[in-house]
Amino acid sequence: MKKLILAVLVATGLSGENLEEVFNIGQSGAKLLLKSLGGEMKKQMSSGDIEKAIEFCSQEALTLTEKIDNELGENVYIKRISTKYRNPKNKPTKTEAKMLFMLESTNSPLLTKVSDKEYKFYQPLRIGKPVCLTCHGTAEDMPENVRAKIHKLYPQDKATNYKFGDLRGAIVVTIKR
Ligand code: HEC
Repeated sequence: MKKLILAVLVATGLSGENLEEVFNIGQSGAKLLLKSLGGEMKKQMSSGDIEKAIEFCSQEALTLTEKIDNELGENVYIKRISTKYRNPKNKPTKTEAKMLFMLESTNSPLLTKVSDKEYKFYQPLRIGKPVCLTCHGTAEDMPENVRAKIHKLYPQDKATNYKFGDLRGAIVVTIKR
């Protein structure tokens, strides 16, 4: 933990104040969201009906994210981003896109200081389970009905052709002080 924070300090020129606290807020927020989305996904996929799981994601992923956002309190905001987004609401800002580029080569979270009053915590999200490829993989990985369903719900979908281990995106936790 100490080592990681030091690395972040050097990388971004952050200085001192309450960094560990800010880092912890970011990390626990990201964990909460991962647990919530991951748990629901597992439940959906175990039913074996992938089309239903896709419907669930499209209807509930943002709602669940908003719910966690509320739970994290007034000055903490959480979302998911990806340069190859499926839902346009998950499109990164320019700065966030730069951070995604930096996250390509690491599995460690990153903390940046936006201003004296604002920090951003980034948790990289990788295609870390074979199941991710069912809905984000190549045409070979994705059954025909899954491709059709996704295309119907997201005609502009960019979130396919990933390979195992690729960076899929990140969770961003914005912490205002
Ligand atoms: C059942 C199909 C399905 C599976 C399996 C799946 N996803 Fe997704 N994923 C989706 C859908 C649908 C969305 C769009 C959700 C929305 O509209 O908010 C999405 C969105 C995302 C996003 C948000 C960025 C974006 O593109 O909009 C990330 C990050 C993501 N998925 C990562 C993963 C990872 C990592 C795994 C494996 C652990 C995974 N997904 C497994 C269907 C799936």
